[in-house]
Amino acid sequence: MKTFLAVKPDGVERGLVGEVIKRVEDRGLKIVGMKMIWLDEEMAEEHYEEHKDKEFFSELISYITSSPIVAMAIEGQNAVSVIRDMIGATNPSEASPGTIRGDYALDIEQNVVHAADSKETAERELNMYFDEEELHNY
Ligand code: CMP
Repeated sequence: MKTFLAVKPDGVERGLVGEVIKRVEDRGLKIVGMKMIWLDEEMAEEHYEEHKDKEFFSELISYITSSPIVAMAIEGQNAVSVIRDMIGATNPSEASPGTIRGDYALDIEQNVVHAADSKETAERELNMYFDEEELHNY
């Protein structure tokens, strides 16, 4: 199965792209697609449409469009739940040590990475970020 993982603006700015990739590869998961992309407002609002009624939505859109992100398609057994466990809780104060957010996140907004939280979300986000020919079989 495949899932979607992105290093967000604070992770890119702080030079944590390599650290995230290393953790994914060390876990035995396969990167089958990857690109750096600077989201415009339209794409950011589409990505986070489920949060559009939250009070932090406009702040979230400003943050996610403030620098490029690195989007990845990850393949492996139970990839969705394995990656979710590896990134840790959204709020870094609740994220376990050893998770990406537990080790590196600054606050609930600047939390280094985003990952799809279900198989359905993974499909939607992979379709949003990658064309078919950008996902590789190897
Ligand atoms: P992510 O996993 O990408 O999904 C939604 C994002 O909204 C989340 O990570 C955080 O970056 C952000 N977020 C969640 N809760 C808050 C909050 N209370 N204030 C600001 N940003 C938040």
